[in-house]
Amino acid sequence: MGNREMLARGYRLHSETGTVRDRRHRRARVLTIANNKGGVGKSTTVVNLAAELASRDYRVLVVDLDSQGHAGRGLGRVARTRSVTVHDVLRRLDASLEDGVVETLDPGVDLLPADGNFDGDVHVSDPCRLARALDEIVWHYDVVLIDTPPSVPRLLVAALMASEAVLIPALLDDLSIDGVTRFMRTFHEVVTGHNAALGTALIVPMRVDTRSALQRAALDELGRRFGRDRVSAGIRIDIGLSEAFARRRPLRAFRRASRAVADFADLADQVLRLLGEELIRMPAPDEVAAVETTD
Ligand SMILES: Nc1ncnc2c1ncn2[C@@H]1O[C@H](COP(=O)(O)OP(=O)(O)OP(=O)(O)O)[C@@H](O)[C@H]1O
Ligand SMILES: [Mg+2]
Repeated sequence: MGNREMLARGYRLHSETGTVRDRRHRRARVLTIANNKGGVGKSTTVVNLAAELASRDYRVLVVDLDSQGHAGRGLGRVARTRSVTVHDVLRRLDASLEDGVVETLDPGVDLLPADGNFDGDVHVSDPCRLARALDEIVWHYDVVLIDTPPSVPRLLVAALMASEAVLIPALLDDLSIDGVTRFMRTFHEVVTGHNAALGTALIVPMRVDTRSALQRAALDELGRRFGRDRVSAGIRIDIGLSEAFARRRPLRAFRRASRAVADFADLADQVLRLLGEELIRMPAPDEVAAVETTD
């Protein structure tokens, strides 16, 4: 089987190495990005991590579970009028997520847009429904990133039920540590009560300023409470991230040589390590040759 035919059958060409890899039968790894506190950098993390992973040739689906629609806005897309939104599956049994997926300007990043009129605490009666609906489309992607709203407990639980890991963007101050501690309680309740597959929580410090003694103290405290390996190096303060939202693009789309882009690359490395080897592994060219001769 030649490369062209392999691509037609759902194999993917790796743009830098020119190799083809088989990802047809692999289920996407699903991560929720959450923190009950508002304005800590959840949507920023979703948009920029999605772009970073896609630049490495992973197929990424962003699920915008926040009716504010910020993740969609950061990727330059909102729901088309009357098209399916991710929130429809939480309201209606017959809605299919596949109908709601839209492409973004970033190759490799698709979006399930949010419904601006959705009230999560009224409409989410079955916390497993999102997980079941996502099951239909996870086969088309390598990674699914779910952006969640602050303070909508039922939507948060629905997202966690669908996920195997959670990233918790957090500012480095006292109040924030309190918020993370509360969030961890919800996380453990979901793990022990409902979804044992939800294995990993990684705290992502946001707006990091290494010169600040207060921040260093907060970082130490997070490490003491939750374990150092549960706290990433985080994302340094970078005004470009706000500018990127205003331009409705991930930062790496127009300023690749910035510190936040470098930090999101490090975060992507850590996330891929957490999710396990098989997601990182690229077949060497001789493995591709082996596929060609055996079919
Ligand atoms: N590392 C950073 N450096 C500078 N600004 C940042 C950084 N991270 C996030 N911001 C800015 O902080 C603001 C809030 O970020 P964002 O919207 O991602 O937070 P959120 O947690 O999703 O908020 P909400 O709870 O309302 O959904 C945005 O203006 C964003 O550009
Ligand atoms: Mg947000």
